[in-house]
Amino acid sequence: MSKLVFITGVSSGIGLHATRSLINKGYTVIGSVRNAVTATSLKQELGSSFIPLVFDVRDRQETELQIGTLRSLLDQSGLYALVNNAGVVAAGPLQVLPDEDFETVMDVNVLAVRRVTNLLLPWLGTDKKYSPGKIINISSVSGLFNAPYNGAYCISKHALESMTDIYRRELSMFGITVTAIEPGPIKSEIWSKSKGSLDRFASTAYGHLLANADKMIENSEKSALDTAVISNLIIRILEADAPQTRYLVHRNKWMFRILANWMPDKMADRLIAKTLAKGDNYRPV
Ligand SMILES: NC(=O)c1ccc[n+]([C@@H]2O[C@H](COP(=O)([O-])OP(=O)(O)OC[C@H]3O[C@@H](n4cnc5c(N)ncnc54)[C@H](OP(=O)(O)O)[C@@H]3O)[C@@H](O)[C@H]2O)c1
Repeated sequence: MSKLVFITGVSSGIGLHATRSLINKGYTVIGSVRNAVTATSLKQELGSSFIPLVFDVRDRQETELQIGTLRSLLDQSGLYALVNNAGVVAAGPLQVLPDEDFETVMDVNVLAVRRVTNLLLPWLGTDKKYSPGKIINISSVSGLFNAPYNGAYCISKHALESMTDIYRRELSMFGITVTAIEPGPIKSEIWSKSKGSLDRFASTAYGHLLANADKMIENSEKSALDTAVISNLIIRILEADAPQTRYLVHRNKWMFRILANWMPDKMADRLIAKTLAKGDNYRPV
């Protein structure tokens, strides 16, 4: 049996591309999707190197049940790596974003990552029967920088950054490595899913600022990098003896670092306000 990699959220975008790339490289991928039709069509396309599991990461019981169905395979092979990829966006100003949307983002992007990770940890090497594995969390530049009108997502990805550091420090005694990938815009379905999502705030105090949101999202999407960039990086991490703790993936890394790390807060506030006032660029991920 080839090396087993577990990836959450493989129905589209980064997860789907990574699944195809890893299988091409000889890995076996256990991929989670949310519906059975997607599972069947991916199985038909990808064959015996793909093992689909159908569950919604928000559903604790179903997550446990579905992972449990692979117990004998995992007991036999252990798990080479886990890629926590499933993620959602709910854009909107914090004061008017419905609680339900905020909580969904926290559940999928944060709470579920811990649930899935903890369930799989024995086979990643907390059980000393298995060789130490690798955990890769698909974070975001939004885990490093807080953009207005995208609060839920930014807060969730900041939490994921913390979780990455904490797991890394707690799991180093088992030899398990934990790495965050922090992408800027990447071409995926997440952009089309975001379109139209800000219209519902038209009658709020932010209506005038968000009036062109779709156009702004489209403009930001134009600078998005291909999903292959992330798949190649995942493969590099899987093949590295000692991967870095985090990888920033951005067209203009240095400009981003200046803005996120070194620019004084009030200067960054003015810059963001000026950029958003122009109404030509808005990044929901
Ligand atoms: N694209 C970017 O520009 C970008 C930038 C930075 C970080 N990221 C991160 O990259 C990761 C992948 O996103 P993507 O860009 O590839 O977007 P995507 O194409 O929308 O993929 C998101 C995946 O997550 C799955 N998912 C969402 N909610 C789920 C749930 N409750 N249970 C199980 N699976 C669920 C989706 O499944 P369904 O099809 O069933 O919804 C889909 O497979 C996310 O963590 C995202 O935050 C993306």
